Amino acid sequence: MQKGLLTLLAITLLAGTTLLNTTNESNSFLEDEVMKVYQNWQKEHGKRYTQFENSHRFGIFKKNYQYIQEHQQRVEAGLETFELGLNDFADLSVEEFEAKYLKYRATQREQTNQVYRRSGKQVPIEVDLRKDGVVSEVKNQGSCGSCWAFSAVAALETALRQGGVKNVELSEQELVDCAVQEEFESEGCNGGEMYDGFKYASKYGIAIRSEYPYAGVDQKCAAQQTKTRHQFAGYVDVESLSAEAYVEAASEHALSIGINASGINFQLYKKGIYNAKCDGSKPALNHGVTNIGYAPDYYLIKNSWGQSWGESGYIRFARIADRQGQCGAQQEVNFPLYKASESQVVFE
Ligand SMILES: *[C@@H]1O[C@H](CO)[C@@H](O)[C@H](O)[C@H]1NC(C)=O
Ligand SMILES: *[C@@H]1O[C@H](CO)[C@@H](O)[C@H](O)[C@H]1NC(C)=O
Ligand SMILES: *[C@@H]1O[C@H](CO)[C@@H](O)[C@H](O)[C@H]1NC(C)=O
Repeated sequence: MQKGLLTLLAITLLAGTTLLNTTNESNSFLEDEVMKVYQNWQKEHGKRYTQFENSHRFGIFKKNYQYIQEHQQRVEAGLETFELGLNDFADLSVEEFEAKYLKYRATQREQTNQVYRRSGKQVPIEVDLRKDGVVSEVKNQGSCGSCWAFSAVAALETALRQGGVKNVELSEQELVDCAVQEEFESEGCNGGEMYDGFKYASKYGIAIRSEYPYAGVDQKCAAQQTKTRHQFAGYVDVESLSAEAYVEAASEHALSIGINASGINFQLYKKGIYNAKCDGSKPALNHGVTNIGYAPDYYLIKNSWGQSWGESGYIRFARIADRQGQCGAQQEVNFPLYKASESQVVFE
């Protein structure tokens, strides 16, 4: 009786194995491997989905994973100068990613403002403003198209710190809520322009972050409820399409810049000097970031996608022989001015 049962079991198992064998074994092995990687990644990044969503997400993750593996082979063959990794965006398609995060829009504005032009002056060979203690921590804009506010605030914070007000963080949310149409051109989480942030902070001042914390959604402007505000004094446009002007300005200031951040390489960037092909024309600019230094072969750029993206939140852009700069970095460049002597704006 027992023996008969065992035989039956053995036959069943054999039949099962043969059936399984009709699927591609090496494929299903790979699938299992990637599934394990996916599940670990989900845990690490706190991603939970419904069953339906999960299989959709896994499909995208798998493609991205394979792309990263192929890219890594080229890295090892010495054909790439930057690496990709499974960051927070590893289960998003390029299309989803762009629609959600790339909301900067460069208007075809004339440079009628004060312009910083190249002077041919001597600049240090290498600058990293973090070493001066004037760069705040990397933030995370979340799923709100507020890159423009983060880029503006990063530059405002550095200007403030260079003006002697140490360790202050300013409110991106105030710009999202208040530096909007009709008076300004920006549209909160739906995108905007860094210079709107500078104009706003120069007209109304801007609150500290703890008094007007980041919510990551569009809200009603609540600037009047804040007490501690810092006043700025306009901004400067850096001469467009000039590597010399860019570096001269970057040797002293944090620069808000517009870039083309489209594509899977930027989305999954992990480390190294980024030199992926990019359309660097003005209409292609879709993301606002902040330049906080440079070296002979790169520009040091602070992003607002948290510290798990890139090099602890930063990316190094190749310094290329192109007027537009890597991904158009030298197209739309400006920085705010802080004047410690200006009186604070008081709301009535
Ligand atoms: C599974 O298929 C491989 C060839 O694809 C074959 O060598 C192997 O014997 C098969 N295994 C079984 C249990 O049928
Ligand atoms: C099985 O999958 C591997 C890896 O994807 C592939 O190279 C191979 O051609 C596939 N074999 C068959 C018989 O489909
Ligand atoms: C950014 O550059 C890529 C690569 O050249 C291009 O395909 C893409 O359309 C550009 N993005 C925008 C918004 O134009």
